[in-house]
Amino acid sequence: MKLPYAEPFRIKMVEEIHQSTRAERENWLKNADYNLFNLKSSQVFIDLLTDSGTGAMSDQQWGALMTGDESYAGSRSFEKLHETVRNISGYKYLLPTHQGRAAENVLFSVLVKDGDVIPGNSHFDTTKGHIEIRKAHAIDCTIDEAFDINDTHLFKGNIDLKKLEEVYNTYPKEKIPFCLITITCNSSGGQPVSLENMKAVKELSDRYRIPIYFDSARFAENAYFIKMREKGQENRTIKEIAKEAFSYGVGMTMSSKKDGLVNIGGFIALNDAEIFKKASNFTIIFEGFITYGGMAGRDMAALAVGLNEATEFEYLESRISQVEYLGNKLIEYGIPVQKPIGGHAVFIDSLGFLPNISREEFPAQTLANEIYKEAGIRTVEIGTLLADRDPETRENRYPKLELVRLAIPRRTYTNNHMDYIAAAIKNVYDRRNEITKGYKIVWESEILRHFTVQLKEA
Ligand code: F0G
Repeated sequence: MKLPYAEPFRIKMVEEIHQSTRAERENWLKNADYNLFNLKSSQVFIDLLTDSGTGAMSDQQWGALMTGDESYAGSRSFEKLHETVRNISGYKYLLPTHQGRAAENVLFSVLVKDGDVIPGNSHFDTTKGHIEIRKAHAIDCTIDEAFDINDTHLFKGNIDLKKLEEVYNTYPKEKIPFCLITITCNSSGGQPVSLENMKAVKELSDRYRIPIYFDSARFAENAYFIKMREKGQENRTIKEIAKEAFSYGVGMTMSSKKDGLVNIGGFIALNDAEIFKKASNFTIIFEGFITYGGMAGRDMAALAVGLNEATEFEYLESRISQVEYLGNKLIEYGIPVQKPIGGHAVFIDSLGFLPNISREEFPAQTLANEIYKEAGIRTVEIGTLLADRDPETRENRYPKLELVRLAIPRRTYTNNHMDYIAAAIKNVYDRRNEITKGYKIVWESEILRHFTVQLKEA
């Protein structure tokens, strides 16, 4: 018999979590203005809001914390992190930041100007926010297959070369500071980008002399998918694949809260000395001196270990197989999910799940709230609330998909938790026809409204 995968770790410390009653949850949700971001974590049984900064560190990482060098400048922990990032990415220069969006803020302060366009594959919301706040535009060039949840294309994060070339032909070169490849593509469902596609994007961009940067929050998960799915890659290590991927770009931003396996942190890594110098100034203004950028020395020490652990095949196999396990359970129950299952999360199609809720009443938010009321599971809306309003017309932007994301923290929950989650969602699915009312907005902020929006029942 072929042996199944098993976690390449055992558990040394546990954290208690508590179940609540439906009446308690209904009350808490109302007091939270029907926005799951406003709940206290003590009001949540299983927290799938995000896989960002919510994972468990290893004993090696906790050990590394004690070796942290807290020198303001030139600490040993920075040296260690620099060496690790150089080995994994091949990029020369490193600027730590306190998290991924801070890396975007620093790098885009150098590269993005009013009126620019930045093509890419479904930019993440903070990335888009940092582009739009500079009066520039993010242009989504993801392949069309990504927006059909039943299309089983193996690399639904890929960039459509025709769409990209159209951008390159439409705008003058000076208006396109770079092309951004997000690996894996969070917004299209944690879907990977193939090496073949990255190479083709580089060849095309070279012809137009546009550089490529990576948003690499989940670069190791992307490399795992390449190893498992791309022809000719099966015998290479994750680190070899990741390094080849990064060789197609000139730099990266990183949210270390994902594939860095730490609870906070980020960085920029790049090759260009001039851009590094300019970005250094912004790092000093926004983040801190260039050898810590908002991170404690001990956090950089733990991150250096985490990056190596996250690029081990056995770790990635158990991580991604657990997400797939949950996805397959939901498929078995007939629940419409994005296929193939993504790397860090399962995405439920709320338009298929709740056809009685109109898009003006936020079907994905409605489903997320129903799942919370059912079983104390907190998920997140990836739909119209997140898509926000058009910065010019102020009209709601209706994205192609209305998704609920079940993001799985790394090394945190067991497959019994996955069974519990699947059963809870099946219960909601069984009574989906009784759910006929969604939500209306009471108050929203100018930008990134989903974090703080206040809702009422429609
Ligand atoms: N890029 C991607 C692809 C991300 O998924 C995130 C964060 C960021 C950049 C920003 O990084 O949070 O460290 O500032 N994603 C989290 C999520 C918040 O829930 O998907 P950050």
